[in-house]
Amino acid sequence: MKRIKILAVVGSLRKDSYNRQLALAAKEVVGDRAEFTLLEYGDVPLFNQDIEHPAPEAVTRVRAEVKSADGIWFFTPEYNHYFPGVFKNLLDWLSRPISDKEPQVLAGKPAAISGISPGMFGTVLAQDHLVTLISFLNMKVMNVPRLTVPHAMQQLDEQGKLELKASYPYLEKQADAFVKFVQEHLQEK
Ligand SMILES: Cc1cc2nc3c(=O)[nH]c(=O)nc-3n(C[C@H](O)[C@H](O)[C@H](O)COP(=O)(O)O)c2cc1C
Repeated sequence: MKRIKILAVVGSLRKDSYNRQLALAAKEVVGDRAEFTLLEYGDVPLFNQDIEHPAPEAVTRVRAEVKSADGIWFFTPEYNHYFPGVFKNLLDWLSRPISDKEPQVLAGKPAAISGISPGMFGTVLAQDHLVTLISFLNMKVMNVPRLTVPHAMQQLDEQGKLELKASYPYLEKQADAFVKFVQEHLQEK
């Protein structure tokens, strides 16, 4: 079976982001079952239709990365019960057709969603909003299992790095399910 390509999209640009750390933990859990990369998009400009064509270089780059991935795994923080604006900005760029002949790059892609927050609900509200958006963009969403990691502060080691104590088995379950979900999608194509 082909080694699948998973692209992780983290909804936070923060260097020590817990969601970024969660994505890196997912990369380890997935191991050699997939090529697993994190999308770097901090240089994508604010969306403005005046600069849509020709697409800025950073936008062309992130589109190419999304296009070449077999599955997209989102890791979202929760800001005010929503997912962050920088993340929405990226999705707005990705939602646009590349040209008259080339459609947007997210349609039909398998998607998984995870998120971690210091609060007790572990990004569940942000995730629900994200599902609404990426379903509208016609992604193939794996709704079960989704991973919500609450109480981030209780899952840190002494250096403040994410250790994922209670949530680790759930990350393993989601990784297993998503690898299978993507493989099945490729077989159906
Ligand atoms: C503008 C803003 C709004 C926030 N709103 C929420 C919220 O609604 N729910 C929540 O659990 N945490 C909220 N937080 C706290 C974030 O969950 C926390 O900063 C988290 O570390 C962000 O994710 P990151 O570590 O991946 O950057 C908010 C933080 C910011 C900066």
